[in-house]
Amino acid sequence: MALRVFIASDHGGFLLKTQLLPMIVAPDMDVIDLGTCDDKSVDYPDFAMLLCRRVLDTPGSLGILICGTGIGMSMAANRIPGIRAALCTDSYCARMARAHNNANVLCLGGRVIGPNLAGDIARTFLSSGFEGGRHEQRIARFDACFK
Ligand code: RB5
Repeated sequence: MALRVFIASDHGGFLLKTQLLPMIVAPDMDVIDLGTCDDKSVDYPDFAMLLCRRVLDTPGSLGILICGTGIGMSMAANRIPGIRAALCTDSYCARMARAHNNANVLCLGGRVIGPNLAGDIARTFLSSGFEGGRHEQRIARFDACFK
């Protein structure tokens, strides 16, 4: 079954979103673009909330959020229980975010990294899996510690 991937940005991440989309579209990926649709100024928490709700409502899905730095999107997304958002600037962190942290949202900075690196990071994130094992209990602590 295809992996459902939601992607959203604010105006600061809009250009990178348009560049990234063709790089992640593949037969085994079902990519849904939730906006924003142009470079008109918008508030990134609105798009973080929109995307995170869809990720939580769609078991097994993953999300990609892009703003200027990726920082605002990651702050907003990580306020939502059940969301583990990772701001990544390299592919190693993207792989580890899935393998050890079971991240379900990747955050990128459209004014920080270029499209080729972003494509590499996103493809790595989407193709990596959670290792489980000793990491299970740590992830379970999120719900126990932060209600
Ligand atoms: C928008 O100018 C910018 O502040 C936003 O995209 C993001 O970088 C915030 O973290």
